[in-house]
Amino acid sequence: MAISNNYDVIILGAGGAGLMCALTAGQRGRRVLVIDHATGPGKKILISGGGRCNFTNVNATTVHAQERYLSANPHFSKSALGRYTPQDFIELVRSYGIAFHEKTLGQLFCDGSARQIVEMLMEECDRSQTLGGRVDFAFNSPVGEISHDGSVYHVMYNGLRASAASLVIATGGPSIPKMGATAFAYDLGRQFGLKIVEPRPALVPLTLGGDDVLFRELSGVSAEVVAQHGKTAFREAALFTHRGLSGPAVLQISSYWRPGDRVGIDFLPDHDAPAWLLSEKRDRPKATIKSTLDRVLSARLAEALADKLALHGNLADQSDRKLAEAGALLDCWPFVPNGSEGYAKAEVTLGGISTDGLSQQTMEAKKMPGLFCIGEAVDVTGWLGGYNFQWAWASGVAAGEAV
Ligand code: FDA
Repeated sequence: MAISNNYDVIILGAGGAGLMCALTAGQRGRRVLVIDHATGPGKKILISGGGRCNFTNVNATTVHAQERYLSANPHFSKSALGRYTPQDFIELVRSYGIAFHEKTLGQLFCDGSARQIVEMLMEECDRSQTLGGRVDFAFNSPVGEISHDGSVYHVMYNGLRASAASLVIATGGPSIPKMGATAFAYDLGRQFGLKIVEPRPALVPLTLGGDDVLFRELSGVSAEVVAQHGKTAFREAALFTHRGLSGPAVLQISSYWRPGDRVGIDFLPDHDAPAWLLSEKRDRPKATIKSTLDRVLSARLAEALADKLALHGNLADQSDRKLAEAGALLDCWPFVPNGSEGYAKAEVTLGGISTDGLSQQTMEAKKMPGLFCIGEAVDVTGWLGGYNFQWAWASGVAAGEAV
């Protein structure tokens, strides 16, 4: 069938949000065109979750869910997330017979491959045809000039012009540029008068310099810790790298960290370290600080921390005050990262198109009828662990029901 260039909806971006919006609109009988400069759909879905796609988190709509989404307006995401829940996506996944499991902390992963999720979404787009709609795709298609004539949006791509009453910005954020991620959404948002909350890399490894650089010797060592920033804390694994700190606990805390801020690492999350060291002194006075730490930490980490604490001799040789000070450090070791690994390594981008100018029910721009913004392009950023895909699905459905 020849592709008509007049559509009801044009969606820019065939990631999770764009595909979900396309299939929702298509199944409502809309004629939809999805344009993407990538060679195929869902590139980030394919690499997500180590190739198994952590496609949702069962806690994404619990009572505490709002604190798991960072935004200048923390309430904005509530409506869409409340209407399209993790359970809705799980039912879709089940209906395709895709096997999945909970890994930890409510995170659901495919047993097989992330490709199954992309194939499912593409099949759902195809299903539009049986419901009176249609979803066409234009891949390898950089987007050119975009204009609005008062009622219709016109988009140039591949030397063609497509027109539609609704235009959806679903081009994500600039994280991982080598995969084709761009800040295009922000330029387009500005073109149509939308404000941009300053973007910055998030869920990103932090780099260490100065005295902290010594910790880089621990590259490859991981430990369960509590990473803290102000009142925010995550108990998960941290990993020392040749550039600094990574691992889930650090990626999570990186979304709260700002240059110059301190990050505290509790290396002994199961102990009140000052009290524990004092009781060890009583019970094992001849032990050294290293042999004491060795009992609860990996050998390399115990050795590095003991070196830095520089308590020579046996526990019995240390004053209670010195042990209490050492314990306080072990409970909250202060790191002042000198930066992050930036967009090249960031799983997501914080900030983006300001929610101020958008309807929280439909994602439509309040002052630009027919313009919708969804997914990571918008200033809504979830925790690690399936929260970001749940936002992509939910915001995609919210717009797909309104276009
Ligand atoms: P997304 O970035 O997916 O899609 C945007 C689309 O727009 C892309 O197809 C891109 O090619 C296209 N595009 C961009 N600029 C364009 C332009 N100028 N012209 C045309 N097209 C353009 N989240 C989660 O919940 N669970 C997980 O397991 C993971 N794992 C993970 C691993 C890694 C390595 C990364 C980088 C990220 C994750 N994430 C994640 C985050 C998740 O991938 C992200 O939040 C969603 O993909 C966002 O979906 P969007 O559709 O909004 O953008």
